[in-house]
Amino acid sequence: MKNFYNLTKKELLQEKEKLQKQYNNYLKQNLNLDMSRGKPCKQQLDLSNDMLNINDYISNDNIDLRNYGILDGIKEAKQFFGNLLDINEDNIIIGGNSTLNMIYDVIARLYMFGYMDNTPWCNLEKVKFLCPVPGYDRHFDILEKFSFEMINIPIIENGINMDIVEDLCKNDESIKGIICVPLYSNPTGTCYSKETVERLAKMETKAKDFKIFWDNAYAIHYVYEKVELYNIFKACEKYNTQDRILYFFSTSKINFPGGGVSLLAGSDNTIKDTLKHLSKQTIGYDKINQLRTVKFLKNKENTLKFMDKHANILKPKFDIVLNTLEENFSNNPILKWEKPKGGYFVAVDTLEGLAKKVVVMCKELGVTLTDAGSTYPKKQDPKDSNIRIAPSFPSLEELQEAINIFCLCVKIATIDKFLL
Ligand SMILES: Cc1ncc(COP(=O)(O)O)c(C=O)c1O
Repeated sequence: MKNFYNLTKKELLQEKEKLQKQYNNYLKQNLNLDMSRGKPCKQQLDLSNDMLNINDYISNDNIDLRNYGILDGIKEAKQFFGNLLDINEDNIIIGGNSTLNMIYDVIARLYMFGYMDNTPWCNLEKVKFLCPVPGYDRHFDILEKFSFEMINIPIIENGINMDIVEDLCKNDESIKGIICVPLYSNPTGTCYSKETVERLAKMETKAKDFKIFWDNAYAIHYVYEKVELYNIFKACEKYNTQDRILYFFSTSKINFPGGGVSLLAGSDNTIKDTLKHLSKQTIGYDKINQLRTVKFLKNKENTLKFMDKHANILKPKFDIVLNTLEENFSNNPILKWEKPKGGYFVAVDTLEGLAKKVVVMCKELGVTLTDAGSTYPKKQDPKDSNIRIAPSFPSLEELQEAINIFCLCVKIATIDKFLL
């Protein structure tokens, strides 16, 4: 493996010629490989097929769940998720099939009606949100839809740069929230440390209605290592800041994406305030699916065992991506990445100004990646370097081919940059 930094111009040109031949060969193959979205593969989906055979509809307390009612979710679901996530069951609302939908609704309600007796955000001149980056494109899309100003907060090894967060929140009343994926973050795999969680709980905020959107989408989705996240409810209790928590979770990537169960958890005040508005939005969510999910997953211990099965399917895929990156770039530092402990992604950084080019080149060879820039608000990666790789969906063979092609494109794009 050659280190491009040590090559002469002539050697770089020779290397490029060799790589270009491989590129042209791939071009002829009309491939169609997709590493763009974090979707479970068929084998993962099949793990939950038995759930479809559960057709009970009477709850433990003898309620016929086929009918209307129970806005905040059935008792067994609250108990199950409360136990799984270590949250008081009275502080949970079980929702529909999507946390993203819940997050959108929460923001819309804060925008239109405000939190308790605070001014609705639509009546403010400016609303700003802190956005840890690289992050999840769909979060940023929601914030953009409401025309909130988004401020990039760098993700660091054990979370986010809290010095910046504390400084901004203390001084600016228009900063109304931060949106975090605290465990196996999308796309960096970052896990927030106890210190990060504590500081978020403790920090002073000029906005009285400041909210932490705690999208714990990958709470139990380990691949290589189980990481324990410090409980934000416990942290906030210490500082009496529970009202800032908006905690989200769903079974999208445990059972069926789009056919799962989501939840929102918050303080007593938040639950009361939310239900006041939610009661005008729906009579109740899909309780039959709530019951089916609980009957299938049973309890925390069984659910964690079930997640081992997902990890066993995902691990060889992550191995392929990480080993191939290692083989290609460990001695040629033109690409950087961190090994995630879990979640659904590997985030890589090319040299500055190359991400868009690499994604376009991959597309030309039939490999679809998430659009470059997507991991930043308004799709603007200031360094044009971050690319999100999603290994879960393709087969092992497809993935190996796709990641080989990706490495090839990174090398060609980098040589072109060096030759400029
Ligand atoms: C961080 C994060 N939040 C939310 C979602 C979507 O969750 P849901 O299916 O519950 O809407 C995803 C899906 O990829 C995600 O990565």
